Amino acid sequence: MAPHDLSSFDLTDKPHINLGLDGIVAFSTKKSFIDGQKGELIYAGYNIDTLAEHATFEEVCFLLWNDRLPTQAELESLQQALLAERTLPKAVIEFIQSCDKDAEPMGVLRSAVSMLSEHDGHDIADTQAATISMTAKMPAMIAAFDRVRRGLEIISPLSNGSTAENFLYMLNGEAPGEAAIKTMDLCLILHAEHGMNASTFVARSIASTMSDIYSAVTGAIGSLKGPLHGGANTAVMNMLLEMQAKGEGLDPVEEVKGKLARKEKIMGFGHRVYKTLDPRAVHLQKMSKQLSEETGHMKLYEWSVAMLETMKSEKNIDANVDFFSATVYYSIGIQPDLYTCIFAMSRVSGWTAHFMEQSDNNRLIRPRALYIADKNLDWTPIEQR
Ligand code: SDX
Repeated sequence: MAPHDLSSFDLTDKPHINLGLDGIVAFSTKKSFIDGQKGELIYAGYNIDTLAEHATFEEVCFLLWNDRLPTQAELESLQQALLAERTLPKAVIEFIQSCDKDAEPMGVLRSAVSMLSEHDGHDIADTQAATISMTAKMPAMIAAFDRVRRGLEIISPLSNGSTAENFLYMLNGEAPGEAAIKTMDLCLILHAEHGMNASTFVARSIASTMSDIYSAVTGAIGSLKGPLHGGANTAVMNMLLEMQAKGEGLDPVEEVKGKLARKEKIMGFGHRVYKTLDPRAVHLQKMSKQLSEETGHMKLYEWSVAMLETMKSEKNIDANVDFFSATVYYSIGIQPDLYTCIFAMSRVSGWTAHFMEQSDNNRLIRPRALYIADKNLDWTPIEQR
């Protein structure tokens, strides 16, 4: 039997393999609920639409870490704790300055978070302190790398202000407008948590061995980096810019049909769980439309809508969180290769929440695999091979 040829395998008396763990329920969690048919997303009891309307990213962080919303005093205490942890250790700054200007931002972020465990000044086992530190420092790491690669001075964080405000300030070197802060804060809320996605699964798997939370976030960043996961938002923007380079007369419908005919995956579309429009995309589409109008990028928005409609009519596939987030970030002047880093600096709240939840009721994560190769072969001396 050819190895790895499952088609000839009689699975009736063998365990069925759920490729990609599709449909497997491996945990219970209080962190989020997704109804893929209805297009519903709930964070620890609160619908994403409610949080989008009323919450701040810091309130969502507290909610995910504590399974309840904060009091005013608790929120202020969290805000102060984040502000106190925003400044990067010297060693991390030196690392970022040493990176190649063409380095992948997600690779720089992954390494910077990893080295933080040795330079954070916290006990590596202090999960709470590490959680605050990584949530506070990841925006600073991303902004610092972008400044350095542009040949600009690294901007120190403000002595006040939210995560969203500080990120935009450290990135651009000027006080961001209220609209930009609100846009970024809402994007951080929308990307914070999403159940057992690939990167959160990685974080829980690392938690299950009783390893440290820096390792869990480092591994999760590596997982999110992939284009089938968080890397899709950058890929969406690159796809739209490639289309734009072909000229304004391009037909986005034909572009989509051509890709489908070539069996290409179109980034920003499809989802393992959602079988209708991702509820986060609803908010991001609204933001994309408004920002595209305000910043003169309506052609990119119009193409996006045409692609949305074509994917629905041709394949009954909807947009996911990564599709419209691309033009939202583009409209507020952020470099496309930073988009997945923004996803990561939000999702660190979900990853750390799941790390804590796994640790509170742990069992080593260790699934099985169906062995499909030969067994007990006779040894063949090398001269006879
Ligand atoms: C995120 O899990 C999460 O919650 C993730 C996330 C989060 O918040 O953490 O929501 C964030 O990662 C969103 C997804 C971002 N990735 C992309 O946009 C990449 C493009 N999407 C696809 O690669 C795909 O839709 C996945 C990976 C997202 C989901 O893939 P599945 O569940 O494994 O489905 P599949 O690849 O088996 O596709 C099923 C069918 C196939 O057609 P057939 O071969 O059966 O004819 O749908 C087709 C696929 O070809 N299809 C697509 C498509 N997505 C699915 N065809 C074209 N373009 C696509 N994007």
